[in-house]
Amino acid sequence: MASRLHLNVFVPTTGHHEASWRLPGTTPERVDDVHYYREIAQTAERGRFDSIFLADVPAVGRHADRVAQSSFEPLTLLSALALVTEHIGLIGTASTTYTEPYNLARQFSSLDHISGGRAGWNIVTSWSSAAAHNFGFDGRLGHTDRYERATEYLEVAIALWDSWEDDAVVVDRERGIYADADRVHRIDHAGPHFRVRGPLNAARSPQGHPVLVQAGSSVEGRAFAARFAEAIFTAQVDLGDAQDFYRDVKAQAAAFGRDPDTVKILPGLSPIIGSTEAEARRIEQDLTDLSIPEVGLAHLSSRFDDVDLSGFPLDGPVPLHALPHPEDVQGAQSRSRVIFDMVEREPGLTLRGLLHRLAGARGHGTIVGTPEQVADRIVTWFESGAADGFNIMPPYLPGSFDAFVDHVVPILQSRGVFRTEYEGTTLRDHYGLPRPAARRSS
Ligand SMILES: Cc1cc2nc3c(=O)[nH]c(=O)nc-3n(C[C@H](O)[C@H](O)[C@H](O)COP(=O)(O)O)c2cc1C
Repeated sequence: MASRLHLNVFVPTTGHHEASWRLPGTTPERVDDVHYYREIAQTAERGRFDSIFLADVPAVGRHADRVAQSSFEPLTLLSALALVTEHIGLIGTASTTYTEPYNLARQFSSLDHISGGRAGWNIVTSWSSAAAHNFGFDGRLGHTDRYERATEYLEVAIALWDSWEDDAVVVDRERGIYADADRVHRIDHAGPHFRVRGPLNAARSPQGHPVLVQAGSSVEGRAFAARFAEAIFTAQVDLGDAQDFYRDVKAQAAAFGRDPDTVKILPGLSPIIGSTEAEARRIEQDLTDLSIPEVGLAHLSSRFDDVDLSGFPLDGPVPLHALPHPEDVQGAQSRSRVIFDMVEREPGLTLRGLLHRLAGARGHGTIVGTPEQVADRIVTWFESGAADGFNIMPPYLPGSFDAFVDHVVPILQSRGVFRTEYEGTTLRDHYGLPRPAARRSS
């Protein structure tokens, strides 16, 4: 059993439930107000969370007219939050498919400097086809091609972060030497996707480099995660599947010569919390009643490479035969598998029923109940080798996150699985991750 639970909060606009922006008490009017996110980040700190996390897709989603959207790009927003928080880790998403490693290595180095060592990068290859059209492509790159590019991308980014040795900046006024040139190195990378000379124009940052986070769980995604990731976000709804995933990724990390304990696995969990189970069920029903089927259908279709589902009756069976097989999906493979399995486990599920299941957390784990029930679920998974912690996905903000911090966290603390105070200052400290040594490249 791992000794300490880790908690990240995944912060979307008004909450993870697609109808959250219509629920009384949420404030879609504030999704472009930096202070709205400051308040959430400060709540996370009050709850002694390890980190907050911002997702990103560089495109307007389908049905952007019927779901709350924020205008903020994650690294910009996290830089602002760095100055109004003290402890919380700041994890931002950026794409290896639609950015260049030199630019991105600089940006994350900046965030790590600005925040005093609290930066994390959620590395994504961008499964959404909408993004491709904003970057000169007619459609998304294939799944394998995206992961190949991502692998070379990471080699370049890490080499750039390592291009300044820790003690390269000497500030010797007397001799007129600001930095020791022998401790700053070119990387001279030349590969199929990138040619980068280096060095980076940024001194090595407090954490050496940002904590590397990854969120793809396909065969290729797991292999990539096992090689690079220090924290892994994953969608798991079944305890047995989550345990298999946990064992598999840790074993693959060990095969890369890594200590499996330096790879933290954090399944998503979206809790609807009430003071009684009946109250929690009422909130769930309110959210379901506010859901718009066309939004859910568009989302489901996007998970299956944009297959057209508009002709199928909502109260008929889920048309599995019309969906591409998960292993053939070129977008988000592992999520399509989660959805496929969900339908196969529940014969008789209608299309409308599936949309309701997915409306809250898009295939991540959900729980509806009292603070004790939510804490039990967390501790059970944590203690049975399914998770090192959780990616908490509040269904509506700020209410459901306040409820988690005020009522679930104290139970986890009293059961001795979660910290009562921060013990370190960096995101690596919170997750118990070592600071990487700078590898010399030339
Ligand atoms: C918690 C979580 C957050 C994610 N956030 C993003 C994101 O912000 N942007 C993005 O393009 N993909 C995001 N993804 C999708 C993954 O990066 C990945 O594309 C997806 O899980 C499918 O990967 P696979 O094909 O290896 O299974 C996220 C996935 C998870 C589990």
